Amino acid sequence: MAISLQCFLFLICISIFSSTMAATDPPLTLNYYKSTCPNVFDIVKKEMECHVLSDPRNAAFVLRLHFHDCFVQGCDGSILLDDTIELQGEKKASTNGLNSLKGFRIIDKIKNKLESECPGIVSCADILTIAARDAVILVGGPYWHVPVGRKDSKTASYDLAMENIPSANEGLLSIIAKFLYQGLSVTDMVALSGAHTIGMARCESFRARIYGDFEATSGKNPISDSYLSELRSVCPAIIGSGDNNVTAMDNVTPNLFDNSFYHTLLRGEGLLNSDQELYSSLFGIETKSLVQKYAADPVAFFNQFSDSMVKLGNITNSYSFVNGEVRKNCRFVNT
Ligand code: HEM
Ligand SMILES: *[C@@H]1O[C@H](CO)[C@@H](O)[C@H](O)[C@H]1NC(C)=O
Ligand SMILES: *[C@@H]1O[C@H](CO)[C@@H](O)[C@H](O)[C@H]1NC(C)=O
Repeated sequence: MAISLQCFLFLICISIFSSTMAATDPPLTLNYYKSTCPNVFDIVKKEMECHVLSDPRNAAFVLRLHFHDCFVQGCDGSILLDDTIELQGEKKASTNGLNSLKGFRIIDKIKNKLESECPGIVSCADILTIAARDAVILVGGPYWHVPVGRKDSKTASYDLAMENIPSANEGLLSIIAKFLYQGLSVTDMVALSGAHTIGMARCESFRARIYGDFEATSGKNPISDSYLSELRSVCPAIIGSGDNNVTAMDNVTPNLFDNSFYHTLLRGEGLLNSDQELYSSLFGIETKSLVQKYAADPVAFFNQFSDSMVKLGNITNSYSFVNGEVRKNCRFVNT
């Protein structure tokens, strides 16, 4: 009894404490840089245009970076920090594919441009958020307004990167739990997974799938048989061979942001276990109907993706707002 009463009081304290913290969070706004850096959106867009034009994969790199940033301590640029003697970064976490995350140099370049235009003003976390939106547009996806005003963290968390970021061979329920933990819904999860309509995965990420239930979900037919043997030639069964060979997650329109990712799932040809489970898992009744909806209705997908990206970008932690900074160099905290 005594213990549970203590727990109860403790919980009340926690909830009062956290609600006052939330109340003092400066909210993100669309015009945060209006007087301090009025051209921020144009500058990011122009840089992203160059990079995506030279290689559409750059759009995928930047979009994924933003997701991996936001799932660890909120969207605070923690993913951008390099390892130093004092600070263990997140880049080497296995959930970040060891060193499979790319696009850091693009963010550096945008940061350099912004530092010469309005020094010390625009956070790296905001740059990444705006750049992710521009990436999506540049490969044919929807537009949405990007609220800004994030601060950069002075810390990173390898441990939270290991805990929070979902991986390809994790079960559906576990992945759903990770989204709920961030305040995102099942609908957000299914819509945001549509990001896999662009970009590539490494053999290591899809080997278990193509030597596992791919045949069962895609059914026996000549077209998916030949797709499967192509995948197996890119990715040999033996662990360690061809681990870093890559292939597109949407093999129909790999460089176009459209809803064809959901069509690959309807065909049972999703490249990652985690993607195919959205449609094929026994636990995925709700996710299955969302996959069907977005496959049938590209506008519904675009609208939901836009809304869910704003929610993803809205994951913040009060700590960064109070103790954060605007980094001069996105790879290092200010000295
Ligand atoms: C639902 C849970 C998710 C899982 C389990 C997952 C897992 C993965 C994996 C395993 C890869 C391949 C990485 C590699 O082999 O190098 C990948 C790539 C990618 N992911 Fe996700 N992801 C998820 C959600 C998301 C979300 C929410 C976004 C963005 C909104 C996203 C954006 C991307 C992009 C753009 C790529 C391609 C990157 C490239 O071309 O290198 N993913 N994801
Ligand atoms: C994949 O990697 C293996 C082993 O490194 C290599 O022999 C093979 O040619 C690669 N396949 C493709 C399609 O790149
Ligand atoms: C963003 O987060 C704040 C609280 O942190 C909340 O009040 C607001 O409704 C959120 N906005 C969106 C679009 O989720």
